[in-house]
Amino acid sequence: MKDSLFVTCARGLEDILAEELKQILHSHPIVDKGGVHVHGKLKELYQINLLTRIGMHVLKPILELKSNNVNQLYDIVKSFNWTKIITKNDTFSIRTRVNSSFFKNSNIVTLKIKDAIVDRIRQETQSRPSIDKNNPTYQLFVNVRQNHVKIYLNTSGEPLYKRGYRTKIHRAALNPCMAAALIRISNWDQKIPFYDPMCGSGTIPIEAAMLAYSIPPRYKRRSYAFKGWSSFDDNLFETCKKQSINKINYENDVSIYASDNTPNNLGLVENSLKILNLAGKIKTEVKDIVDFSPVSEKAVLITNPPHGHRMSREVALKRLYRNLGDVLKNKCKNYDAYIFSMNNVLSKCIGLRTKQKHILKNGKLDCRLLYFPIKEGKFQ
Ligand SMILES: C[S@@+](CC[C@H](N)C(=O)[O-])C[C@H]1O[C@@H](n2cnc3c(N)ncnc32)[C@H](O)[C@@H]1O
Repeated sequence: MKDSLFVTCARGLEDILAEELKQILHSHPIVDKGGVHVHGKLKELYQINLLTRIGMHVLKPILELKSNNVNQLYDIVKSFNWTKIITKNDTFSIRTRVNSSFFKNSNIVTLKIKDAIVDRIRQETQSRPSIDKNNPTYQLFVNVRQNHVKIYLNTSGEPLYKRGYRTKIHRAALNPCMAAALIRISNWDQKIPFYDPMCGSGTIPIEAAMLAYSIPPRYKRRSYAFKGWSSFDDNLFETCKKQSINKINYENDVSIYASDNTPNNLGLVENSLKILNLAGKIKTEVKDIVDFSPVSEKAVLITNPPHGHRMSREVALKRLYRNLGDVLKNKCKNYDAYIFSMNNVLSKCIGLRTKQKHILKNGKLDCRLLYFPIKEGKFQ
């Protein structure tokens, strides 16, 4: 467990995350359900928190144990030397996920672990740390699968999709980690243009621009949980941060286009671009999908059309997906088009045969990234 880290991600993105971490760390990650294990000390912990575009939390395993009842769980957790991590002046919180026939109630597991930690620290220091659910010094993630209990420290704090480039959130905005993953799956090589013709607040094209200009994903984010810990090495963190910022290259010659039929959405895109010093680097336009008129012979197009869970108007949405299919057939020959869809019925209305489907989880929703390589003349 020493020097190991677990980087979590949305289900379905584990392999893509492993590829990314291999590039960041030059090591060999091990894929697991919901994340990837890597070997890493403090430097790697800082690097991943700064650099992963796909990972959601960087977790440090603290304690792993086998137990099949809460009293035994209490005893084992209490036997761990918690004062080497949490002092009486710190605050902490616990988030528990249970998938077990031995432990049915996650609240009881949380309570027992909390009591064990508090009792152990009080036994040694005659004082106890407080619980703070909103902004704790230490956030523990507990994962119970059958009788196997793993306790991690969340080193990131807020999830890593919080990049710091949004002031307002579009009501159907995509998670930036997911947007970054879609771009990686598309293998966009930056030599050909990139389009999102239903861009909303622009998460997909903004993530594409950050990638193209080598802007670290959390360039504008200041807070990470590890910064509040006694183990925080300010110099090492600043060195890692500087190294990532030195790679920014605003000269890269890339073409990224973002459009949407709602003017306010383009305002959100412009705001985020300003925050990232990328004003003017994405060509934005208010345009309905039926008037979409791409300017290049080849391109990668990734878009996330309305899907009906959050904006329900089925007949209109079916027409919209049919229009999207027609635009792809008629105006996007030789494009690699990727549609991120959460609604199978609507996706069928596109009327094109998919070459590949990636099944992904977006929060609790099942979704698919559908790949349509648009070829001349042959549509069904
Ligand atoms: C699911 S949202 C996209 C969210 C976006 N990926 C983000 O992260 O903010 C779908 C977008 O499609 C846009 N849209 C709906 N109908 C459209 C149409 N006919 N032409 C162009 N855009 C349209 C909506 O305004 C909305 O912003």
